[in-house]
Amino acid sequence: MKVIKFMLTLCIATLFIATGFSSALKEGQTCVADRNCDAGLHCETCVANGNFRPRCTRIQPLIPTSKVRGLPFNRYSWLTTHNAFARLGERSETGAVILSPKNQQDTITDQLNNGVRGLMLDMYDFENDIWLCHSYGGNCYNYTAFQPAINVLKEIQVFLEANPSEIVTIMIEDYVASPKGLTKVFDAAGLRKFWFPVSRMPKNGENWPTVDDMVRQNQRLVVFTSKSSKEASEGIAYEWRYLIENQYGNGGMKAGSCPNRAESPSMNTKTRSLVLMNYFPDAPDVTQACKHNSAPLISMMNTCYEAAGKRWPNFIAVDYYKRSDGGGAPEAVDVASGHLVCGCNNISFARKM
Ligand SMILES: *[C@@H]1O[C@H](CO)[C@@H](O)[C@H](O)[C@H]1NC(C)=O
Ligand SMILES: *[C@@H]1O[C@H](CO)[C@@H](O)[C@H](O)[C@H]1NC(C)=O
Repeated sequence: MKVIKFMLTLCIATLFIATGFSSALKEGQTCVADRNCDAGLHCETCVANGNFRPRCTRIQPLIPTSKVRGLPFNRYSWLTTHNAFARLGERSETGAVILSPKNQQDTITDQLNNGVRGLMLDMYDFENDIWLCHSYGGNCYNYTAFQPAINVLKEIQVFLEANPSEIVTIMIEDYVASPKGLTKVFDAAGLRKFWFPVSRMPKNGENWPTVDDMVRQNQRLVVFTSKSSKEASEGIAYEWRYLIENQYGNGGMKAGSCPNRAESPSMNTKTRSLVLMNYFPDAPDVTQACKHNSAPLISMMNTCYEAAGKRWPNFIAVDYYKRSDGGGAPEAVDVASGHLVCGCNNISFARKM
């Protein structure tokens, strides 16, 4: 009887820990479900790193402006999702099965709520509208089309409305040729009122306006396009006039080297005030992403810091941003923000201001 009672107690205790009613587990502790983990963490394995037991790993960076305000926009680092819209399990709104690779696990709204502040979106003319497609050859097809861009832009609009001190940056891989196509879709999504004007973007490596100023003026949406002509025709900033960026894909994952992508000026070009770091393979890989987003990401950040003339990245772009074996991309962002904000190696050490 006593033994049975003991066993029963043990069972209940185990169940209690497993389902984690009260126990909020810290980063690195083994877990059973997301709800066992502290806020900002989720429960997962990283088999690619030999981590077979699910552990609590980070899915949220600290929002650096919640620690220190008042600095220029280029003095912060932001978690950025590569092909933010290409979500695993998503079905095309055309009804077709999407054959394109997927790069993320959750919706734009969930990404924003987790602290993602940079969104890379591929936009195409399609079905007499602007669509988000992960396609090739500059054309979108039913089987590469995710959804009309306005859906996602409206999610961003709702987020900006509900979070009046947050700033979001969109990098458009732009295949839109229809006249004023982007202007129309941003207007229709209600995003015009948040637009940060090109005229206020520093052209020669100067500091950006402060985040406080951007918030006060409600200019909290920064948009870049990959098409240079749209800066004159639609007032949408041509990305590489304002930032430098390393090579994306496999070419950007060779340890110890951080070359610029073809469209970007060389990494050490100081007339660009912002630095973007890509770190993801040519073919997105949900199983390897946890490995890529861990130690190799931080290591590449140090390499790119040197290549960029001792500048830390303002945007850190990854696939499957939630996957890692511990701190992951959120930690890389905290480290970069720490250096940028206070010269310390982690924004969590910054004194609140
Ligand atoms: C593509 O999807 C549209 C609906 O959005 C449909 O009308 C059309 O027939 C589809 N085309 C093909 C080739 O399946
Ligand atoms: C940064 O700070 C966070 C929170 O205190 C901690 O979890 C993380 O390990 C730190 N990272 C580094 C590289 O110091």
